This record gives sequence, structure tokens and C-alpha cells, in this order.
Amino acid sequence: MESLKGIKRNNMCGALGLNNIGEQVTVMGWVSTRRDLGSLIFIDLRDITGVVQIVFDAKECGSFFDKAESIRNEFVLAVTGEVVKRDQDTINPEIKTGHIEIRAKELRILSKAQTPPIYIEENSNVSEAIRLKYRYLDLRRPDMQRNLMLRHRVAKTVRDFLDDNGFMEIETPMLTKSTPEGARDYLVPSRMHPGKFYALPQSPQIFKQLLMVSGMDKYFQIVKCFRDEDLRADRQPEFTQIDIEMSFVDVDDIIDINEKLIKVVFQKAIGVELKTPFNRITYKQAMDKYGTDKPDVRFGLEIQNVSDIFEQSEFKVFKGAVSGGGSVRAINAKKCGDIFSRREIDSLGDLAKELGAKGLAWINVAQDGLKSPIAKFLSQNEIQSVLDRLDAEKGDLLLFVADKDKVVFNVLGQMRLELAKRLNLIDDDSYEFVWVTEFPLLEFDDDQNRYVAMHHPFTSPVEEDIDLLETDPSKVRAKAYDIVLNGIEIGGGSIRIHDTELQQMMFKALGFSEQKAWERFGFLMEAFKYGTPPHGGIAYGLDRLVMLLAKVKSIRDVIAFPKVQNASCPLTDAPSEVDQEQLNELNIRVMD
Ligand code: AMO
Ligand code: AMP
Repeated sequence: MESLKGIKRNNMCGALGLNNIGEQVTVMGWVSTRRDLGSLIFIDLRDITGVVQIVFDAKECGSFFDKAESIRNEFVLAVTGEVVKRDQDTINPEIKTGHIEIRAKELRILSKAQTPPIYIEENSNVSEAIRLKYRYLDLRRPDMQRNLMLRHRVAKTVRDFLDDNGFMEIETPMLTKSTPEGARDYLVPSRMHPGKFYALPQSPQIFKQLLMVSGMDKYFQIVKCFRDEDLRADRQPEFTQIDIEMSFVDVDDIIDINEKLIKVVFQKAIGVELKTPFNRITYKQAMDKYGTDKPDVRFGLEIQNVSDIFEQSEFKVFKGAVSGGGSVRAINAKKCGDIFSRREIDSLGDLAKELGAKGLAWINVAQDGLKSPIAKFLSQNEIQSVLDRLDAEKGDLLLFVADKDKVVFNVLGQMRLELAKRLNLIDDDSYEFVWVTEFPLLEFDDDQNRYVAMHHPFTSPVEEDIDLLETDPSKVRAKAYDIVLNGIEIGGGSIRIHDTELQQMMFKALGFSEQKAWERFGFLMEAFKYGTPPHGGIAYGLDRLVMLLAKVKSIRDVIAFPKVQNASCPLTDAPSEVDQEQLNELNIRVMD
């Protein structure tokens, strides 16, 4: 193998163009493709900036032509040569270097390569398991390199913006105390304290609040968080937050600075100008209209409540749902009566059942009269009221679900998305933001038979609702907000409780005894005794934000070394077994 002795790279492959004609350059990189025409060898040499064509001509190369013949894909080369214009008929106008080529005068083979197990090419369709096993090769692909560059650009823009606005980046511990609520913790055994464990942070929540008590005023951190939960395309066991906390602020202040932040991120990262302020809707409005707290508002197909029409209906399914405390809600799938075949309508019914509905009732407002399996159960009056309520026109298809609200929202919420997909209603180039505000403070957990915090136990109730904490906890609204982009929750936060007494009321509502609350969060409550500014904050999922900016389907594509569905890493094989000695030191016995 040859060395770099006596030569220096003076140009990047992808940066060369017509303005370099006549220059002597030295480039270094990987062999991307190679064509051997006997006395002429063409290769594309690739580095982080792109590819450039290099020509080895037997007539010009002399002694090193043999060496050029030994080159294979993914060899690492240093090439010195002259930049020349390509023949007219070989120009590739798609890329900057497509007008030129380098005629090689010197070649060094810096490293040879075995045939790689995966093709290094844009948009390769190799299985993800193989890609992740050879992630270092996968990351040679230009699209993956672009994703990581974009991620870097986003992080840099965030840091610059927050720095310009008086925020300070402060690190918080990775080995910390397990705090309940939220997801399952990753635990780390302590050698010094047999039987005791640290937890990896699910977020820096408590520390950032303590930093406000310390007078740091405006904090941020781009930080790893760890949650042992079931994984999905937009969930990883370790992921990165842009974490923010501010003192002396209320909801509007936080929303305002964050809209400015998102605006510059879109400008600098992808050159898109966003219009602010973003829309805001309350949690209740979001559920009523979209059936979810992370609505995709790029299209309509809003849900409507038609329960009142069926309170006295002869149709038991509808009447029963309403009298049982649930509801009947509907979507007007515009024009779908004309478009969908009976089979397609039935497949929507199957989907509804998979999602937990007992059925999907429908009325097809066909050109030649209503068609519906439920019309026979409904009165003329009911049908007319429903058609009016849903602004039904000929050609429309009305879809109904009757059940407990939770089921109705889930099924119709997903039905909206499915219809939008089938009807191709989603514009992939649009970015629709919405703030969802006034989340409920608490939700009842049937398994634990108690209220749990919907966001976290330090979230402040809306002032007017504080009295309800003792009388009707489920009605209390929180000063909590999520920011949703194209139907994906990219961030969330809240104004915090900064008053020890209110915090104790909250713990009581959560069913914690004073002693239990003190054991778990004592250090925070103690801190609050010494002068605490009103404060609040937010955290973004950086991976999700970059995923949306890069227009990819999974956060794994914007993380250098992600884990797969079962939380393992195909590259390193983590998690793995450890030596008995290590376990002994930690006082841990593995049960078989
Ligand atoms: P929250 O739990 O809502 O809030 O998390 C903030 C954001 O982090 C992202 N996120 C994830 N991304 C990838 N994989 C995961 N497993 C994962 N879990 C969450 C989401 C989410 O919106 N401490 C509070 C914030 C605050 O109150 O200031 C918190 O962590 O995009
Ligand atoms: P059935 O009388 O059970 O045959 O139901 C008549 C129609 O109502 C069928 O099209 C069912 O899919 C539909 N249906 C049944 N239960 C529900 C429900 N809970 N919500 C909406 N539609 C339903």
C-alpha cells in the first residue's frame, strides 16, 4: 500500500468544474465505478462532495498503467492529473463535474478493498438488516451522507440561533436517578453500591428545572435521551432531543421563540420560507376534528359529531353508543361514493375492525339515490339531518363509527389518513405546522387504577382549573403544548409548577403519598423552597425533525448508527453477554 508522502490533496472531487480547466489537481477518494476499454480506463472517484471522472490513458500513463488496471471498486486512491474538458458527446449535464475529467499523471493506491457486500449507490434497495450490519459502507451512499450533513446543519443552526438569543448549552448527567412516570428506564448497576442502580435519563427534565432555580435563565442542550419502549419508525431506544428551558415566561413566550427557531432551521437547512405564526388548536378541538392529538392538517376530511341526531334512534348500534356515554361520529369522504367500488368500501370496513371498531357504517350518496346497509334502520329525519350536517352532495360517501369516544377517535383518525392516502390528497412538498394546546393535565389509567400525568408531574395546570384538581381531576387543562408537523409530534413541553404547595396537590391527585413523593422527587421539592422563578420549556425530537426535513420515512435514516426493531445493533451485536467476573463485581446474578 502506498502512502501520502510527498503529496497533498488540493481539491475535492465534487467541487471541480469548468473553471478548473487546465489546472493540475490532486484528489483522493473511493472508486465508485470503473470501465476498462483496453488502452483507456475510466473511473469515477468519490469523496464526500461527489464524484469526478478520471481517465488513465495507456499512452500517457506509461509505467503506472498496470497499476491502474489493478484498480477495483472501493479502492482508495490519490490521483494527480490535469483537468480537461470532456468530449461534447460524453458530457453529463446533471452534475457539476459532468463537463470535465482528470487525465491522470500520477496514481497511488492508498488502500485496496474487497468486493463490498452491498452496492454503494443512491437509493439502494438492500434489506435494512444488511445495511445496518455494514453501516460504515451504507454511510458511503451519497443519500445517507446528505442526511447526516442535513442533520449537522440543523443542529448547528439551532445552536447558533439559541446562542444569539441568550441561551446557554449546559450538560446534564447521563448516570442519574430513576424517576417514575413516562416510559421504562434503562438501568445501570452500581459497582460501588451493590443492589443500587442509576438510570439513563429519559430526558433532562428535572435537571433543566433545577438550572432555572440556579438562575441560568435560558438553557438548552442537544442531548441523548433513553427510553425502553416498543420501537417504531419514529422511535428509537436512544434518541436526541433539542431540549430548552426558560425562566419568567408563559406559554406565548415559549411558542413565540420556538416559531422563530423553526423558521430559521427551515430557511438554513432546506431553503424553505415558513409563514408564522403557526395555527394553534386545543387538544379538544384536535380530537373532535381529527381524532388524534397529532393531526395531519395537510388535508380536510374532518370528523363530525352526529351523536345528537341518533339519541332516540331505532338503530340500536348508534343509540346504544350514545346512551352508553360514547358517540357516533362521521367523515364525509368527498366524491368517494363515485370513486370507490363496493369492494373498496368493504376493505375500509375491514380496516375499521382491525383498528378496534365493531363495524363501519356507511351511506353512499349515489347519483341514483342513497345506497347503505344501515338506511333501513334510520328514519327519514335522521338521514336528512345527517346529510345536512355533513354537507353531503351526490357522489359522497359518509362513514360512521359508533363506540366509546376513544375507539371512535382512533378509528376515524386513522380512517382519515387512509382515505387521504387512497385519494392522493397529501402534498409531499408542504409543511403544515400546528400547535396543540391545553392538553388534559391527567388521564385515568385503568391498569393502575389512578390518574397519571399526561405530560409529566411537573406540568402546571391552567390557573382557572386549579380548584378542579380536588373535585374533578379529569377536567383540569394543563399549560402543555405539542408542536406537530405533517401529523408527526416533533416536540412538546409545558409551563411547570413552581410552587411547592401546588406541586404537592399534583402529587396527591396522582395518588402519591407525601412520603412516596418525597422519596422520588424530594430533591426537586426541596430546591423549590429556596426561590423558584416561573419557568417552562420544550423538547424537540431532533431525529424526527431531520427525518421530515430529509423527506425520509424512518428516523433510522438520519441516525448514523441506529438500532433495529428489537433494540439491538446489527453492527456491534449489542446488547451482548458479559463475563461472569463483570457480573460478580456488580453483584448481579442472571436468572435462567
Ligand atoms: P417528550 O416526552 O414529549 O417531552 O419528548 C419530546 C420529543 O422527543 C421526541 N421523542 C422521541 N424521538 C425518538 N424516539 C423516541 N423514543 C422518542 N420519544 C420522544 C418526540 C417528542 O415530541 N421533558 C419533556 C419536554 C419538556 O416538557 O420540556 C419531554 O421529554 O418528538
Ligand atoms: P349489523 O346490524 O350488526 O349488521 O350492522 C349494520 C351495519 O352497521 C354494518 O355495516 C356494520 O358494519 C355497521 N356497524 C356495526 N357496528 C357498528 C359500530 N359500532 N359503528 C359503526 N358501524 C357499525
